[in-house]
Amino acid sequence: MHGILFYDMKEYERPLFEAAKGEFVFDYAESRLDERTAALANGYDGVCIFVNDTANAKVIRKLAACGVRLIALRCSGYNNVDTAEAEKCGIAVLRVPAYSPYSVAEHAMAMLLTLNRKIHKAYIRTRDFNFSLNHLIGFDLHGKTAGVIGTGRIGRTFIGICRGFGMRVLCYDAFPDPAAGLAYLSLEELLAVSDVISLHCPLTKDTRHLLGKDAFARMKRGCILINTSRGGLIDSEALLDALRTGRLGGACLDVYEEEAGLFYEDKSATGVQDELFSLLVSRPNVIVTSHQAYLTREALDDITRVTMENFRNFFGKIPEKA
Ligand code: NAI
Repeated sequence: MHGILFYDMKEYERPLFEAAKGEFVFDYAESRLDERTAALANGYDGVCIFVNDTANAKVIRKLAACGVRLIALRCSGYNNVDTAEAEKCGIAVLRVPAYSPYSVAEHAMAMLLTLNRKIHKAYIRTRDFNFSLNHLIGFDLHGKTAGVIGTGRIGRTFIGICRGFGMRVLCYDAFPDPAAGLAYLSLEELLAVSDVISLHCPLTKDTRHLLGKDAFARMKRGCILINTSRGGLIDSEALLDALRTGRLGGACLDVYEEEAGLFYEDKSATGVQDELFSLLVSRPNVIVTSHQAYLTREALDDITRVTMENFRNFFGKIPEKA
C-alpha cells in the first residue's frame, strides 16, 4: 500500500480523508512542512500539504532523499512549492486546480458587506445592549464600481455577485479573455476609478507586492480593498500607510503575507509578535479572517475528492516500494 503523510492537517479535514482513504495508508502530522519537519516523511511515497507549508528547494531535496515521489497540495495556489526543484528531483507536484469558486467569492462579498455596513461593530454593540447607531454609516454598493484583479474562476464568480448588487464591474488581468465579455482596463486605470478592489490573481514573482506604495497612491480616496488571494500580493507596510492617511477606506483581509505560523493557530493566550499585523488588526476599518475563504462543506468535499483522484491517478501507475 502506498503511504502518504499529511502535513498541517486540520481536525475538520481528517474525517473526510479517513473516510475516503481506501487502498492508501494515511498518516497525519499537525506540524507544517519545513526544513525541520521534512524528515518525518521518511519512507512515505507522498506528502500532502496545504497553503502555509514550505516546499522550497532545500525541503524538496530532503523529501527526495526520504523517497517521496509526490507532493499533493490540498489547495489551488502553489506559490509555496519550488516546482523547478521538484522536477529536478523527480517529484511530481499535483494540486486541486479548481474547487467551489463560490466559497471564496461569497466570502469576499461577506467581508465587504461586513466592513462597509459595520456588522462586526453592530454585533458587539447589541450584545452589550448598546443600540446607538453612531459611526455605523456605510454606503450603497448599488451603482458603485468594483475593480476585479484576476478574472479566473473566483474573479468571475465574484463579478457575478457584484453585478447582482447592481455594481459596475471593471477588470484587470495580465491575460485578459476577449471572449469573457468583461470590461478590461490597465491596472492603473482600474485603481483610479474603483470604489472597491478585489484581488483574485495568483501570487507569482510578477504579482508579489502588486499593490504597493505607488498603487495605493493611485487609488480613489476611500476605496475598500479585499484580499482573499494571497497575502504577498500586497505590501503590508504600504497598506498600513494607506489606511493611516485615509487613502484607503478599509481593508478586508483573508490572507496576510506573514500568515504562516499565525493563521490557523490559537494565539489568544500568547498574543502575536508581528507588530505590523497587530497594528492592521487593531484598526477599526480592517477586518481579518484567518485564510478561511475556502471553508465551506462543498469546497472541502471537492478538495478531498480531487486530492484522492490525484493520488489514484499518480500511484495507479507506480508500483509500491518493495
Ligand atoms: P484562476 O487560475 O482561475 O484565475 C487566476 C486569474 O489571475 C487568471 O485569469 C489569470 O490570467 C490571472 N492572472 C495571472 N497572473 C496575473 C497577473 N500578473 N496580474 C493579473 N492577473 C493575473 O484562479 P482562481 O481559482 O480564480 O483563484 C485565484 C486565487 O485565489 C488563487 O491563485 C489563490 O491564490 C486564491 N485562493 C484563495 C483561497 C482562500 O481560501 N483564501 C482559496 C482558493 C484560492
